[in-house]
Amino acid sequence: MFPTVRMRRMRGNENLRRMVRENRLTVDDLIMPLFVCPGEGVKNEISSMPGNYHMSVDVLVEECREIARLGIPGVILFGIPESKDEVGSDTWSENGIIQTAIRALKKDVKDLLIITDVCFCEYTSHGHCGVLKNGSVDNDATLINLAKQAVSHAQAGADMVSPSDMMDGRVGVMREALDGAGFTHVSIMAYSAKYASAFYGPFREAADSTPSEGDRRGYQMDPPNGDEAIREAELDKMEGADIIMVKPALSYLDIIYRIKQEFSMPLAAYNVSGEFAMVKAAAEKGLIDEEKVMMEMLISMKRAGADIILTYFAKDVARLLAERER
Ligand code: PBG
Repeated sequence: MFPTVRMRRMRGNENLRRMVRENRLTVDDLIMPLFVCPGEGVKNEISSMPGNYHMSVDVLVEECREIARLGIPGVILFGIPESKDEVGSDTWSENGIIQTAIRALKKDVKDLLIITDVCFCEYTSHGHCGVLKNGSVDNDATLINLAKQAVSHAQAGADMVSPSDMMDGRVGVMREALDGAGFTHVSIMAYSAKYASAFYGPFREAADSTPSEGDRRGYQMDPPNGDEAIREAELDKMEGADIIMVKPALSYLDIIYRIKQEFSMPLAAYNVSGEFAMVKAAAEKGLIDEEKVMMEMLISMKRAGADIILTYFAKDVARLLAERER
């Protein structure tokens, strides 16, 4: 076809590039993960995740006002409880850290979706995502507690619950429990394809949730597998998930692509702590341009098929996009 067809023609200037651009990252796509802890006036930077903090509820409220002002549609909350126990009972306590945070946010912040991570690893003394029996997580015993946790979050006012435990059958059990308690309007974003990944390292430091013994490979997915992620997504869809999530994002773009092709459902990608920390560390060393790499990473998730991105960069992206519009 050359010389009639010249692909470079449409790349000649920014107006042309804008016109033919196939994917866009917007503030509407973003969810900001936040860590809430007991106390008052607490704002401690998480050393492994620069610019992210352990915040007490009062500080969290301020932070969420700012996030809402930036136009970010939602936040996902992770709790650092006052105390841990064998089963993680803080997760379903009326005065648990998450319940307290939700009530404060619902009272004082307008126009922000409050999503909660539903899991146990930050709340159990052993650091596993459920009830331990003979050294492994008991699936069906954990389901009962997951349902209690989800209903308790809904009672406190959560708009959406997001199970990240990878137990079999959890979405169905949670949907039934929520509906039975009158929370048919509370949606479920399922961590459907959640891999046993080393990219969660900084988060585990942040959430103090490293298992004291063993690892999570008995419940989280094996990184070499792809078809299995399709089956996981299919099950969660059948059990009533409203949004499917793939996690991590960057090393699993093929999974995002495949799930988006296969199911016509809203799809979220979790740009996890390790992906965030790598960019921060490399930028700090002067090895890469942080802003450009951040935007390139996030657009790759959109191009692969993600509708929603959970990212610790959410505020930075929102600010950058707003600046560009001016
Ligand atoms: C809890 C949970 C984890 C993350 C989100 N929810 C950690 C894990 O499974 O060990 C990781 C988030 C991140 O790395 O940013 N189960």
